Amino acid sequence: MRTVIRRRVTRMISAFLFQPPLPISPKHQYSLLPLTTTQRFLTASHSFRTLSTKSIPNMQDSASVSYLSQREAAEIDETLMGPLGFSVDQLMELAGLSVATSVAEVYKPSEYSRVLAICGPGNNGGDGLVAARHLHHFGYKPSICYPKRTSKSLYTGLVTQLESLSVPFVSVEDLPEDLSEDFDVIIDAIFGFSFHGAPRPPFDAIIRRLQTLQKRPVIVSVDIPSGWHVEEGDHEGGGIKPDMLVSLTAPKLCAKSFSGPHHFLGGRFVPPSVAEKYKLELPSYPGTSMCVRIGKPPKVDISAMRVNYVSPELLEDQVESDPVLQFRKWFDEAVAAGLRETNAMALSTTNKDRKPSSRMVLLKGFDENGFVWFTNYESKKGSDLSENPFAALLFYWEDMNRQVRIEGPVEKISEEESENYYHSRPRGSQIGAIVSKQSSVVPGRHVLYDEYEELTKKYSDGSVIPKPKNWGGFRLKPNLFEFWQGQPSRLHDRLQYSLQEGNPAWIIRRLAP
Ligand SMILES: Cc1cc2nc3c(=O)[nH]c(=O)nc-3n(C[C@H](O)[C@H](O)[C@H](O)COP(=O)(O)O)c2cc1C
Repeated sequence: MRTVIRRRVTRMISAFLFQPPLPISPKHQYSLLPLTTTQRFLTASHSFRTLSTKSIPNMQDSASVSYLSQREAAEIDETLMGPLGFSVDQLMELAGLSVATSVAEVYKPSEYSRVLAICGPGNNGGDGLVAARHLHHFGYKPSICYPKRTSKSLYTGLVTQLESLSVPFVSVEDLPEDLSEDFDVIIDAIFGFSFHGAPRPPFDAIIRRLQTLQKRPVIVSVDIPSGWHVEEGDHEGGGIKPDMLVSLTAPKLCAKSFSGPHHFLGGRFVPPSVAEKYKLELPSYPGTSMCVRIGKPPKVDISAMRVNYVSPELLEDQVESDPVLQFRKWFDEAVAAGLRETNAMALSTTNKDRKPSSRMVLLKGFDENGFVWFTNYESKKGSDLSENPFAALLFYWEDMNRQVRIEGPVEKISEEESENYYHSRPRGSQIGAIVSKQSSVVPGRHVLYDEYEELTKKYSDGSVIPKPKNWGGFRLKPNLFEFWQGQPSRLHDRLQYSLQEGNPAWIIRRLAP
């Protein structure tokens, strides 16, 4: 029985691959849906900024991405839901999640929490309902305007899910006159790629209102800016000018004339057979990300870049009296929040001429005796520390709005400790430490690689790789800590711990931000 089914499915798929394109069905087609980003959105506390695990912005040159005609989009849709076995609900869920994660990439809930999803009667509206649900879970406060509901169970289910989260539904009549007063983001999920003709009430009036919006709230259009022609774009002029367009699976032809700052694409699920048949040039999605920025990144005015920090207060009577314990607490919280390389810190040193120098190193241990990292003793930092054995460490945990400064004298750790750590490292790193005469000039990459290869062969028998004499750890013994917690209006919390000579007790003082 299973073999018969498998054969049938194989036949259907090969029929699809070798068939001429399907005629466009006049009925509403499901918009192509993205497999959306699974990036984690971690709200470490109700008021921390939302965290995206992506550290490098995803970007794709828009010139190398395919654009679909209405007919192609409809055909691909039919294929996905026919021989390729996708269901409408499944695709709608993926689309909505893709929209929500694209929104969260750009508009952080700390500044853009009030979202209005305006949902049309069809699948584009369904995408908007799903997006609103995900945004709720990401820490936003969505409201829904859904004037033409359908009684199909797929849609009534989505409405019930939103109601169960107490997401408010607002009628068109109850929408505030000035949308900018009540909302930071408007999701335009009114019409998708299969829409044609002129928008009818009440959507015609809503679209007119969106056309005249000033800078706030920002508009995010799902797949097609509503009111635009799917292929010709805003051909009559004066249409909606979204700030963000989230194209689904592949941008439609109208997206060529999208001039807003943020163009995203979702749709990582497209099977290679579909991509081949339609010669789709699709972007590569980095890591586990399911949405990708296409087109040029927006031009930014660096002088105007600022984040309004919202965080829990850092109060004198709530912190630990021992700064090492306080550091442990924050470090553990940063680890629990899933921050990448929580132990990466900037190490600043100065040489005998009092010239400062900073670089990142990895913290490898800390306790009441100090903070330890490993390096080459003959590197620039090693040389600086031999000339002036004092240093400053700096941790910045961006997604928690936290910074920690630690200062104090530095000394080498014992040979035994360095040996133990060196031999706990992967063999490749051990060989790397021998090869790198850190901070010296090398004539070319090949020099390092040749020596690495030679040593890899030499130690391929699994014998012990000796630690170079010039490699080991340093320990900074703190005499000053500062814990910084970002707060609104630049009124940040800064608690400094310092020691007074002859007194082992730490003094805690608040510094002006
Ligand atoms: C995240 C990160 C972690 C690093 N960790 C170390 C480390 O633990 N030890 C080290 O010697 N270099 C580390 N480096 C490289 C240093 O930043 C630096 O390039 C190198 O140590 C040479 O610095 P110097 O010439 O000032 O001595 C790290 C770099 C980065 C970006």
